[in-house]
Amino acid sequence: MKTLVIRVDPENRKWWKDTLQKLLPNLKVVLWDEDEYKVEEVEYAVVWNPPVGGFKKFTNLKCVVSVGAGVDHILKDPDYPKNVPIIRTVGKPLRKRMAEYVLPHVSRYQLRLPEIRKAQEERKLIQYVEPLADEINVGVMGMGNLGGYLARKLRVFGYNVFSWSRTPKKVKGIASYAGKEQLSHFLSKVKILVCILPQTSLTENILNEQTFEMMPDGSYLINVGRGETIVEKDLIDALDHGKLAGATLDVFREEPLPKEHPFWKIPEILITCHTAGFIDPGLGGKIIAENLKKFIQGGKVKDIVDIEQGY
Ligand SMILES: NC(=O)c1ccc[n+]([C@@H]2O[C@H](COP(=O)([O-])OP(=O)(O)OC[C@H]3O[C@@H](n4cnc5c(N)ncnc54)[C@H](OP(=O)(O)O)[C@@H]3O)[C@@H](O)[C@H]2O)c1
Repeated sequence: MKTLVIRVDPENRKWWKDTLQKLLPNLKVVLWDEDEYKVEEVEYAVVWNPPVGGFKKFTNLKCVVSVGAGVDHILKDPDYPKNVPIIRTVGKPLRKRMAEYVLPHVSRYQLRLPEIRKAQEERKLIQYVEPLADEINVGVMGMGNLGGYLARKLRVFGYNVFSWSRTPKKVKGIASYAGKEQLSHFLSKVKILVCILPQTSLTENILNEQTFEMMPDGSYLINVGRGETIVEKDLIDALDHGKLAGATLDVFREEPLPKEHPFWKIPEILITCHTAGFIDPGLGGKIIAENLKKFIQGGKVKDIVDIEQGY
């Protein structure tokens, strides 16, 4: 029987299996490591962070679904069979989840809540004149499915929004910058930078000492893209020297963030655990099942990844 194999975080694997089996009754849905199945019958895989070299045994694989908008966790495998299309998981509910995560973190910096909290610990009352949203420049790095939606929402809230992407964008009320040559111009404008870039060979280490220097003193960073975009030591130095005033980090080079990692001890860093755009079976199951059904029936699936581009 045509089989769909699932390889996701252990905590939710049974939830994923039950959900997808209900939504895709014509397929046999199994767990990659635990269930018994015939590898030659596996035609579809739904994965998050699969083992390197793991796809080799599935010789009849027709399509892989990423439980995530990013596909770096699949393409890090040098043996990934590039003729097998990858469908990434995106959609309105996931865009909303991401925007609803980022917006309060932007407001937190706008309202200087970290400083107020610190003052409270010292029993000090400080009355700040809070800037209005339209006095705050927010930069969005990455204007794709998630970043584009977020930028528009930030605009609705009144922020001054600047965007940066590989190719220029035309979005009403949002200044667009594109490519490496316009990066410094973009960064020089932004007080709060939201990085929502995919991890590719071109975006890796893009936030480093030189690029932090391009930002106004005392800026803030919110990284919800991938940990690999940041040179960690340079971020720590930038916070130490006051170049950056704070950082909200949802993604890391190593996840979960190891207990001994220096980020834990830095008061200016707020850590969340890859929850900004988390895809659970409730939110993602229907999207994945719809995409797979369309693919199996030979229909056009718009979220197929450009494997050469890496996103
Ligand atoms: N924290 C979380 O829970 C979470 C959840 C979901 C996703 N993510 C991360 O968010 C990323 C973005 O998701 P998405 O759905 O918005 O991706 P997407 O639709 O593929 O958009 C990617 C954006 O990044 C831009 N970009 C790519 N390479 C670039 C480069 N070298 N220079 C400048 N801009 C570049 C693209 O520019 P063009 O528009 O010009 O192509 C595009 O605007 C994912 O890849 C994933 O890593 C995180």
